[in-house]
Amino acid sequence: MSDIKILDLEQLKALIEINSRINSNYSDINALLVYILESAMRLVHCESSSLLLTNKEDESLRFVVALGPKGAEAKNVLVEKNSIAGWVAENNSPLILNNVSSDPRFFRFVQDKTGYVTRTMIAIPMCVKGTCVGVIELINKINSKPFDNEDLRILELLSNQAGIAYMNANSYRSAQDKISVLSSQIANGSEYHSFVAKSPVVLDLLHIIDEVSKTNTTILITGESGVGKELFAEQIHLKSPRADKPFIRVNCAALSPSLLESELFGHVKGAFTDAVTDRIGRFESADGGTLFLDEIGELPLDLQSKLLRVLQEHRFERVGSSVTVSTDVRIVAATNRDLEKMVSEGTFRSDLYYRLNVVPINIPPLRERKEDIEPLASFFLQKFSIETKKNFRYFSEPAWKLLFDYYWPGNIRELENSIERACVLGTPPFIQVDNLRINYDCQDKKDDFETLTEEVVTESGDRTLKTAVNNFKAAYVRKILNETGWNQTKAGKILGIQRTYVSRLLNELHIR
Ligand SMILES: Nc1ncnc2c1ncn2[C@@H]1O[C@H](COP(=O)(O)OP(=O)(O)OP(=O)(O)O)[C@@H](O)[C@H]1O
Ligand SMILES: [Mg+2]
Repeated sequence: MSDIKILDLEQLKALIEINSRINSNYSDINALLVYILESAMRLVHCESSSLLLTNKEDESLRFVVALGPKGAEAKNVLVEKNSIAGWVAENNSPLILNNVSSDPRFFRFVQDKTGYVTRTMIAIPMCVKGTCVGVIELINKINSKPFDNEDLRILELLSNQAGIAYMNANSYRSAQDKISVLSSQIANGSEYHSFVAKSPVVLDLLHIIDEVSKTNTTILITGESGVGKELFAEQIHLKSPRADKPFIRVNCAALSPSLLESELFGHVKGAFTDAVTDRIGRFESADGGTLFLDEIGELPLDLQSKLLRVLQEHRFERVGSSVTVSTDVRIVAATNRDLEKMVSEGTFRSDLYYRLNVVPINIPPLRERKEDIEPLASFFLQKFSIETKKNFRYFSEPAWKLLFDYYWPGNIRELENSIERACVLGTPPFIQVDNLRINYDCQDKKDDFETLTEEVVTESGDRTLKTAVNNFKAAYVRKILNETGWNQTKAGKILGIQRTYVSRLLNELHIR
C-alpha cells in the first residue's frame, strides 16, 4: 500500500470528466472506443495504445482501435489466445511488462509488419460483471520510463468504467438495430402472400423447393415479369428451418448504387454526408434468416464483387468501417433478365453468376400452365370481392373463355390487376367480359387516350396539377407495361428512360 499514492486532485478531475463523457453518448461505438484509448493515454503518458475486443463466440481477440505511430497497421488484426492480451483476458487480470521482447506471450506480428518496437507495455482487462469484454494495451511509456503500479491503479479505474460504457453502448446499438429491423419489416410489408397452385409444373417446383429449403444453398429464381418469383422466394423461406427468422426483401433496381450499398451492408456515422448515425444494413437485419435480392441483374459491378465475398466468406464491412461483421444469411435472388447473356456481355460477373445459380428455379409463364388460371382467378375474385365489398359469385361464360384464351404477357400480376379492376367496375354477381378490360384485340388509340384521361381525373379527389401529372405518369407507364407484358426493359425503351427508372416509378407511383 505504501508505494501507491492516493489519487491527486487533477487525476480525480480527469477521471470524473472522462467518465461523464464516455457515458454521455452511446450512439457511436467506434468513437467511444477511440475516446477511451485517448483518455488512457491522457492519464498515463505513452507513445501508443490499442484496444482489443473479445469475440464471445470463439473468445478470440481483435485489435479494434489503435492510436499512435503505426496504429493503422494493427487495426483489425486477430490475436492468438496465448498472446499477452489473450492471457489478460483469460485471467481477467492486468500485466505490467517492462521488457516486452523477452516475454514469450508477445505477439510479434504487428512489430514485424511495421518495424515499430514495443519496449514496455501495460495491459488491463475491461471487465463487466466478472467477464472480460476487451483489453486496453498502453505501449512505451514516455521518456523510457517503466510502467508502475500507480499507472495500473488509475488505468483500472478507467477500464472498469470503460467496460460498462462499452456494454451499454452495445445494448443501445442492438436495441437500435432491432428497431431498425422491425421498422424496415413494417415499411417493407413483411407479411407473406397466399400461394395458389394446381398445375403439375408448379407442383413439381414446390416439391424441389421442399428439398432445397432444408439446405442453405443459394437459389436463383428466373422467369418473366409477374410470374410469382417473389412468392416462390417466400415459399423457400417459409419451408426452411429459418422460417421463424426474418425474410428481408431488397429490390436492387429501386435504389441508386451508393444507397443500395448502404442499404445492403449498412454504414457507420460519417461514411457519407447523410450518414448521421450508424445504421445496420439488410444483411445484418436478415441474420439467421433469408435475404431476397430481387432484380439481381441490376446490381452494379462493384457491388457484385462485394456480394460475392459475402457469399463466399459470410463476412463484410459496413460502408465507412473497417470492422468485419459476420453474417448467417441464406440468399435467394431473382431476375427476369438473361444473366447468362449479361455474363457474356461483361455486365454481370461470371463467378457471381455461378455462385448464385447453384440451384436454378425457372418459373414458367402463366400461358404455359393454364391449369393455374382457374384457381388463381377464383382466388383473386374472392379477394377483391371482399376488398370492394361486392358479392361476386363467378365469371360469365365469355369472361371465363377470355381468361383462358388470353396470352397473359404480364402473367399473374396482369391477371390479378385485371380481376381487381373488374371487381371495381363490374356489377355482381358475375364478372362480364367488358369488366376485365383485357386489351385482347388492341383498342384503338383514341380509346386508350380516353382511358388514360379518365384515370388521371378519377383516381383522386385531389385536383392539383402535381397529382394529375403523377396520375398521368402512372397510367401511361402502366399502359406501356401492359403492352410489353410488364417487361420493364422493353417499356423503358419505349418510354425513353432507363429500366431502373421504370422500376423506381413502379415503387414511387404505386403502379400495379
Ligand atoms: N402462385 C400464386 N398465388 C397467388 N398469387 C400469386 C401467385 N404468383 C404470383 N401471385 C401474385 O402475382 C403478383 C406478382 O407476383 P410476384 O411479385 O411474385 O412476381 P415477380 O415474378 O416477382 O414479378 P417481377 O418480375 O415483376 O418482379 C403478386 O401480387 C403476387 O401476389
Ligand atoms: Mg418481383
